[in-house]
Amino acid sequence: MKKLFALALCAVFALMMFAGCSGSAGASDGAVKIGIIKYMDHTSLDEITAAVENTLSSELDEQGVEYSIDTKSANGDPSTINAICTQFVADGVDLVVAIATPAAQGAATVLEGTGIPLVFSAVTDPVDAGLVDSLDAPGGSITGTSDAIPVSQIMDLAAELTPDAKNFGILYCTSEPSSVPVVTEAKEFFDANGYTCEEGAVADETDVQTVVQNLLKDCDAIFIPIDNTVANAMAIVSEECIAAKKPVYVAADSMVRDGGLASVGVNYTNLGNLTAEMAVDILNGSDPATMAVQVLTDNNIVVNEETAAAIGVDVSQYA
Ligand code: TRP
Repeated sequence: MKKLFALALCAVFALMMFAGCSGSAGASDGAVKIGIIKYMDHTSLDEITAAVENTLSSELDEQGVEYSIDTKSANGDPSTINAICTQFVADGVDLVVAIATPAAQGAATVLEGTGIPLVFSAVTDPVDAGLVDSLDAPGGSITGTSDAIPVSQIMDLAAELTPDAKNFGILYCTSEPSSVPVVTEAKEFFDANGYTCEEGAVADETDVQTVVQNLLKDCDAIFIPIDNTVANAMAIVSEECIAAKKPVYVAADSMVRDGGLASVGVNYTNLGNLTAEMAVDILNGSDPATMAVQVLTDNNIVVNEETAAAIGVDVSQYA
């Protein structure tokens, strides 16, 4: 009995020492630890990540706080999201920032019950994604920023630039939680406004070329929602659309920079900066449960002059 007790005591001491060691990097020097997880590396998510890092650093420097920031990309792989977030928890991070919907959903699963707050960035529909109860009152340890997509504004621009385009091909990835609600909204818009449409769904990036080629056979123009997988393959999409001399309207400025014809959307550097400010507020004691999700509305028209010239569309009034 005594022996057992001694053994148990040893085990407890060993555990305490282990816990003490693994927690000491953060606890003993008082430094704040932040983990940033980005879903994949594409133009827009790279831009957001840089803005989050810059604003976090400048705000925390200004407050004289010691901190470390660990940024990881999941390369579009769900099991990597899980592994990265599990490591963040083991490292004793004080807060996680997750960029794009799949990263935020994966992080939420891993962080559940740990008490570690999660700030998401660029999640198009946080309620649909199951991250918050409502935009105004998130209700838990999760809040963040949203890039809600102005479908009707994008389509108003399309009507102005290419009024003859009436049959749209919708190119998106079926497993992208941010595209699905936008596709639904776009279809409703097409139905209600005298357009027809055809869906071109891809399972992953390797399908993109064939699917876009098929859409271009029947359709006058392509519409792309806020889709990470397609955004990552914009070079191919743009090449095919230029070869077919057909316009491609997209849901983010980065996809215009990467060869799309035009978009109406938010500035993702502003969105990243705002995300970092929310994270700093939470580190300073604000409660994410009552911090409303910030939905950006600074929508700007962006056009790609080279693409426009290549397909013979006049975008001069927006260039
Ligand atoms: N809104 C996307 C999501 O919820 C992420 C995103 C941000 C994105 N910028 C983009 C996707 C540009 C495609 C293109 O996951």
